[in-house]
Amino acid sequence: MKSILTGRYASVPENEIPLLKGRRILLGVTGSIAAFKAADLASKLAQTGAEVDCILTVSAERFVTALTFQSLTGRRAYVDADLWSDDGHILHVGLAQAAELLVIAPATADTIAKLVHGRADSLLTITSLAATCPSIVAPAMDAGMFEHPATQANLETLRERGVTIVGPVKGRMASGLIGIGRMSEPRDIVGSIRLVLGKDGPLAGRKIVVTAGGTQEPLDPVRVLANRSSGKQGFAMAQAALDRGAEVTLISAPSQEMPPTGAVRIDVQTAKEMSQAVLKAVAEADALIMAAAVADFRPRRVSERKIKRAGGVPEVPLEPTEDILAQIAQQRPEVVVGFAAESNDLIKHATSKLKSKGLDLIVANDITAEDAGFATDMNRVTLVSASGGSEELPLMTKSEVAEIVVERIEELLREKS
Ligand code: CTP
Repeated sequence: MKSILTGRYASVPENEIPLLKGRRILLGVTGSIAAFKAADLASKLAQTGAEVDCILTVSAERFVTALTFQSLTGRRAYVDADLWSDDGHILHVGLAQAAELLVIAPATADTIAKLVHGRADSLLTITSLAATCPSIVAPAMDAGMFEHPATQANLETLRERGVTIVGPVKGRMASGLIGIGRMSEPRDIVGSIRLVLGKDGPLAGRKIVVTAGGTQEPLDPVRVLANRSSGKQGFAMAQAALDRGAEVTLISAPSQEMPPTGAVRIDVQTAKEMSQAVLKAVAEADALIMAAAVADFRPRRVSERKIKRAGGVPEVPLEPTEDILAQIAQQRPEVVVGFAAESNDLIKHATSKLKSKGLDLIVANDITAEDAGFATDMNRVTLVSASGGSEELPLMTKSEVAEIVVERIEELLREKS
């Protein structure tokens, strides 16, 4: 189906994900109330630029319709009746061969059992049998059904065959009971899709450490010295590295951002904790991306008790924190990328930090710009590299900045090895 919309309504490129753009994903939807969440999944996938073909089982059609999925993906959605239509004799083979990934979400206990036994009694199960691409199964069922030894054994069999099982997660189920049986959120399923499709990417086998967020330095049990970093740019760096197949350790200061699926996340609060975590992680890493806004100073003394107003305005002497980039000199990974948030003389300050901290690349941004920087999804940066070049990038999303920086890291690693 071709979109009839043109002009300013034509596209929403900010949700595009380069890894998924143009990729053929076959989404199988089976009969669970979580089928309504599969509609959200189909929508999210279509917005990434993926080409999403959907197959609904007969019982899925009780909950949602093919029209729902067609409307969201802009492509035909298939149902069992299509098996007996004119293109029926090749439909399952055609769909299976075109698919780069098969995702069954939600997957009922019955469909899981059918997959295990190679049953071919519906368009979805026939197509699954004909497919040779990787697959992801996101179970959804009542907690008791999920815990049943038969279901557990079936899931184990699928795992042994290389199928990625996502969820289910704990929460309120259709029965009203709380337990493990809810289908994973579409966002997390998209995360697993990125992991599976990205795993053989150009950074496969590479270990990348990313720091993110703003450290917090305690003053007393309730107060901290903090900064305005949201962690968005660092988290986007971690995701971009995962999309290229890297093994990612994300060392994060407090941040509201959701961690990308597949990253090993280490939560820290202070510069000292971040320094210890980075020193440990870089020992085995190929690259370090220091996107965190690390405090330069901390209160020299942390009061054990809350500082009371009645005590008058306190004097807060500060002391310097660990300079993490300076500390890693002894066990420096092949590629080290730093950030410079500046309010004036951007390139001059960035270049001097690049040199003094021995970086391969520095991502410099002007924090006085109104349309970019802290807590927004947009950024406007200049990349300054040790080899001498500087590249001023236009205003773009933090994900786009991350794509470009990680691409540069990939080039640097290739040059050095
Ligand atoms: N950085 C670090 N350890 C610190 C402070 C900063 O490793 N204690 C890292 C940051 O993660 C960033 C780079 O150094 O990648 C530059 O951080 P920035 O705060 O801009 O530089 P500073 O050296 O602290 O200089 P100033 O704050 O005076 O501009």
